[in-house]
Amino acid sequence: MEFLLCGGTDDRVALCLAADAERGARVLWFGDWPDCETAAAPAPASRQRWGARLDDAPLATLCPGAGTGWPAAPALEFLRADGRWRFEAGHVVAEPGAEPGSLRVLQTDAAAELALETHFQLDPDDGSLRVAATLANDGTDAVDLRWLAVLALPLPHWCGEVIETRGDWCAEFQREVRPLGSSSWLRETREGRSSHRAHPGVLLAEAGADARRGRVLGVQFAWSGDHRMRIDALPDGRHVLQVGVLLHPGELRVEAGERHRTPDLWLACSGRGLDGVTARMHALQRRHVRPARGQRQPRPVHLNTWEAVYFDHDPEALGRLADCAAALGVERFVLDDGWFLGRTDDARALGDWSVDPARYPDGLTPLIDRVRALGMEFGLWVEPEMINDDSELARAHPEWIRGAGEGRTGRSQRVLDLTLAPVREHLFAAVDALLRAHPIGYLKWDHNRTLTETAADGSAGHYGQTLGLYALLDRLRAAHPAVEIESCASGGGRADLGMLARCHRVWVSDCNDPVLRARIMAGASPFLPPEVAGCHVGPARAHTTGRVTDLDLRAAVALWGAFGLELDVRELTAVESGRLAAWIALYKRWREVLACGHLSTQVPDGDHLVRVVTALDRSRALLVVVRTDDAAPGRPVRFALPDLDPRRRYRVQRAGPDPEPALRPAALAAGGPWSGPGTEVGGAWLVSAGLQLQLPAPQRAVVFEVTS
Ligand code: GLA
Repeated sequence: MEFLLCGGTDDRVALCLAADAERGARVLWFGDWPDCETAAAPAPASRQRWGARLDDAPLATLCPGAGTGWPAAPALEFLRADGRWRFEAGHVVAEPGAEPGSLRVLQTDAAAELALETHFQLDPDDGSLRVAATLANDGTDAVDLRWLAVLALPLPHWCGEVIETRGDWCAEFQREVRPLGSSSWLRETREGRSSHRAHPGVLLAEAGADARRGRVLGVQFAWSGDHRMRIDALPDGRHVLQVGVLLHPGELRVEAGERHRTPDLWLACSGRGLDGVTARMHALQRRHVRPARGQRQPRPVHLNTWEAVYFDHDPEALGRLADCAAALGVERFVLDDGWFLGRTDDARALGDWSVDPARYPDGLTPLIDRVRALGMEFGLWVEPEMINDDSELARAHPEWIRGAGEGRTGRSQRVLDLTLAPVREHLFAAVDALLRAHPIGYLKWDHNRTLTETAADGSAGHYGQTLGLYALLDRLRAAHPAVEIESCASGGGRADLGMLARCHRVWVSDCNDPVLRARIMAGASPFLPPEVAGCHVGPARAHTTGRVTDLDLRAAVALWGAFGLELDVRELTAVESGRLAAWIALYKRWREVLACGHLSTQVPDGDHLVRVVTALDRSRALLVVVRTDDAAPGRPVRFALPDLDPRRRYRVQRAGPDPEPALRPAALAAGGPWSGPGTEVGGAWLVSAGLQLQLPAPQRAVVFEVTS
């Protein structure tokens, strides 16, 4: 039997799947599709014979098993207590599910006493495909599960390049492009979090695809712990993708009669280049993944206290910081690390989530009242999964610490064992008490250490730790549905769809140097819609690099995400405060568009980055050009604004505060005829011919508002 699920309005995609007892269940195609109405049944797969191969080689089924002659990595690896380890589905049932666009495929291996059910859901409107698999142990002994890919997906023939991001602390989402060759491609993390190094998302593109042209497949795995993505080249030239939870020895046993479900794998495809697939990945997050609150709400302007005061907490000084923040137009004041019992540096106190009486003799209430009286929401930093040896909690409950408190530390801290119910109970009670005692609207939830040592049962326990975190977050969210949560892990170490199903924002990086941050935001862009990707204006001299940049560059880069401040605004001159207030006002004018508009990027040529966000009704657009390096000064460039309406007329105007006097000549050159009141231009011209600009000077930015 063959099935065809089709979706997307004009940029259509389809999933073609065939299932029969003899050949198994196979994805024949997931990719671009010309016409949903007249789609014919796909051509049957044929076995191509060649010398030195099996006569009856296994096909690329949803779950090619070990020991079957499948020439690449199996999609399921397990060991039963009695030594059974092979899986080869002998019985296959496929049927449409209850929801439109859904399909359920059941593959059973009677000898292995395993049944694997794969569920597909293709959204008819946005074309997103969600896949998850459930393995049922129908035997009488436990299955030690080593690997279960959500599915084995043969990639469309046009996939020629892997566009991935690699990273590190302060260098997240560094884009790398490599050809899909004849050897395997592997991407995994073993840190117990989705990690800076291997964010669980990747793009697979037609060779030469650019921002607007070419077919691109986007892949995102909704899991915040250890994961593996691999692509194997088959002898017949095809490539097969597998994505799943990376399992450590013995950490996942499926007991007799029990079932194990994989996290969701999300796939999106577009024939309209990187921008097309980015739009689809953003749409699927906005429509299907993220918690209801925050989806279309204006994202408030933050001030985060970290780089302003670090551990130097003084309620009066913080109150003055809040006064200055409110005067600038800040809407949410987030008190970062340093507020709890004895937390005077990063070597102590994690675990003790009560307000430090030494620094806050009257508790947090006076500061919160002051913040709220200024019209701002109050947010608080927590890092509940972690513990310092020097803490009351560690002294009271050493048995709650992974590895029993032995082994390596990271940032002087260890990790609580969230596989233990009493630990989860304790953490829920601690955070719940904070939220009940204070009007806190927002938590910055941090995670600053990788997982090592063992869980209480002696296993690596990374899988259970992630499930424990999800259970804790889900319970807190149910108890406090109005509280928003930001996922942070030393910056962007846990910015995945597993967290974004539970959180409202991610902190993309600790690097507030706008030159580096612009590249980080560009690399993150396909995977993180702007309204969730926190991006802050830092101090003039960036604390992580020492580079000095001007305020306008820092503010222009912060426009690429959920805008915030992370500097000591008490130290700003009146002129700087005025400029910053103007940037905040500009962000507020555009945040609705940023949160749902069409995003268009121009693939950078190495020394500048461009982002255009166009309102869905095409009435206006914001263009941000950031010059990162200083390759060739004074270069003219041309940018098209492809999502505007060719039939309308627009006013193009340089935006943001007026350039400082000393920088006026360079800024005027970059602003061109669009400085001052701006110039009227026809939409057709902007869509096709675009704007001719002089690139801003090195390490500067220029912003244009296009309005009708
Ligand atoms: C991590 C975060 C920072 C800050 C500090 C506080 O490094 O990424 O933003 O919150 O912790 O200790």
